[in-house]
Amino acid sequence: MSVLDRLIAAVTPPESAEARYEARKKATEAAMPGDWLDLILQHHMDLEDAFLEVRSAGGATARKIALKQLGVLLTGHAIAEEAVIYPALADEGEKTHATLGYDEQAMVKVQMALLEKLEPMSKDFTDKLEHIEGAVLHHMCAEEGNWFLDLKQTASAEDQVKLTRRYAEEYNRYVGADAPV
Ligand SMILES: [Fe+2]
Repeated sequence: MSVLDRLIAAVTPPESAEARYEARKKATEAAMPGDWLDLILQHHMDLEDAFLEVRSAGGATARKIALKQLGVLLTGHAIAEEAVIYPALADEGEKTHATLGYDEQAMVKVQMALLEKLEPMSKDFTDKLEHIEGAVLHHMCAEEGNWFLDLKQTASAEDQVKLTRRYAEEYNRYVGADAPV
C-alpha cells in the first residue's frame, strides 16, 4: 500500500450506512429547493450513481467510459466546492473544515489519476476504486452531517444567494450545458 493509499485509508473510517443516511437527512432538511446545499446534495447522489456505474460495468470498455464520466463529475463538483464553498467555510470561521476539505479532495484527485492507469478489470483497479469511493463517501458524510449545516446556519441570506449562483456557475462551467464538448 502506497503512502497515499495509507493516507486515504486513514481518513476513511467506515461510517455505517445508517450514519450516512442520518447525515443526508439532516442536510436535506436544511436545504431549500434549488439552493447551493440542494445542488450539492444532488451532485453527491450523482457521484454515488457514477461510482456504481463503474463498479457494475461488464467489460473494460464500458468501465473506462464510466470512469471518465465519474472523473468529470468528481472534478466539476470539487472545483465548485473549492472555488466557492470552502472559501465561505473559512470566512465563517471554519478553517479546519475548509483545509480538510481541500486536502481530502486533493487526495482523491491523485488516486483517480493512478486509477486511470490500472487495467480496468483487474483486482488492483477494484481495490483502488473501493478505496476512493470510501474516501468520497466519508468526505460527503462530513459535509452533509456537519460542515455545510454550520455554513447554512451562519452565512447571511444575501451570501447564501451568492453561494448558490457561484457554485452553479463553477459546476456548470465543467459539467453542465456551459461545458466545452
Ligand atoms: Fe461535496
